[in-house]
Amino acid sequence: MDWDRMIREELGTLVPYAPGLREEQVRERSGRDDICKLSSNESPFGPFPAAIAAMERELAELNRYPEGASLALKEKLSARHDVPVEQILVGSGSNELLRLIAQAVLRPGDEVVYAWPSFIVYPMVTTMFGAVHVKVPLDASATHDLDAMLAAVTDKTRLVFLCNPNNPTGTYYTREAFDRFFTRLPEHVLLVLDEAYFEFVTAPEYPDGLTYYEAGGRVVVLRTFSKIYSLAGLRVGYGFAPAPLVHAVDCIREPFNVNSVAQAAAAASLDDDAEVSRRRAENQEQKTYLYSGFDRLGISWVPSETNFVWVKTEKPVEVFEALLGQGVIVRGFGNVPALRVGIGTAEDSKRTIEAFEAAVARFGSI
Ligand SMILES: Cc1ncc(COP(=O)(O)O)c(C=O)c1O
Repeated sequence: MDWDRMIREELGTLVPYAPGLREEQVRERSGRDDICKLSSNESPFGPFPAAIAAMERELAELNRYPEGASLALKEKLSARHDVPVEQILVGSGSNELLRLIAQAVLRPGDEVVYAWPSFIVYPMVTTMFGAVHVKVPLDASATHDLDAMLAAVTDKTRLVFLCNPNNPTGTYYTREAFDRFFTRLPEHVLLVLDEAYFEFVTAPEYPDGLTYYEAGGRVVVLRTFSKIYSLAGLRVGYGFAPAPLVHAVDCIREPFNVNSVAQAAAAASLDDDAEVSRRRAENQEQKTYLYSGFDRLGISWVPSETNFVWVKTEKPVEVFEALLGQGVIVRGFGNVPALRVGIGTAEDSKRTIEAFEAAVARFGSI
């Protein structure tokens, strides 16, 4: 078989998604048992107690296929956000929803506008469906440059992805900047607002994507249970989208794309807003601790509205390795002069600062 001819040409430039190092790998490399895994923007805490109880109840029913349309979860989301069930998407992570939306709308040659650096899945799905990448660099403060993104929109633009707050920089664009962008965005463009870190945000100027969502509009809002709800391992994301798009996604998704344990855990998690607030407050406290630790060490960082911090360094590869040696796993992006440092427990924060302190002692400055 000539595989170069068999496999679609567009896929030639793709490489499999590379997840962060696993704890066992770092245990071996560092010789330490106490690993801080701060590389995948996960929650350091387990699922909510109500979610654990719901999952346990579900286990005895695993001989059955799940409810195919995630209806109970959609009904709960519908009541909570006052959006009809027909306009709600539920997927195996918001990751799956990003792909399905792209698959539903992109034709070869369409242009897709997104900021860079931002979430790796935007370029992946753009390539996957033969579309054209229009990458707009973040501005000097590592924030979406919405004016430049608007200027990059053409007659051929099919999709714009906005990641707010942005992964990997943790920055957000303001309501004022978004209003200016949104009122000028041409009608033919589908706007996907990826709000995976929505629940961590405390900035008053943050524009909640749902307030721009309308039934007949061209806005999709995506959120996830993987982050503050601490269910990354189950894979559940959701979103709000005009009914024709939800219908198209329903036609191309797998028949049972979200497993029954995941559906039950996600629905149960929605009942515990107090836990969400507690976890947001804890995240804020650890973030403040990290900021002051970085300041003390003379390390530059970018203010974050998420559960990770973008830390500047001229020696990203060396510092990444030095942190690993201390059992602290962060995320590096090759030679990009920064590291993405996840926010974990109080113990993780203490270990993070100690590890950076050791790196500064070793390299002089980083
Ligand atoms: C910006 C952004 N969007 C979407 C996702 C996907 O989340 P999930 O597929 O776990 O819902 C992530 C995960 O890290 C993310 O950072």
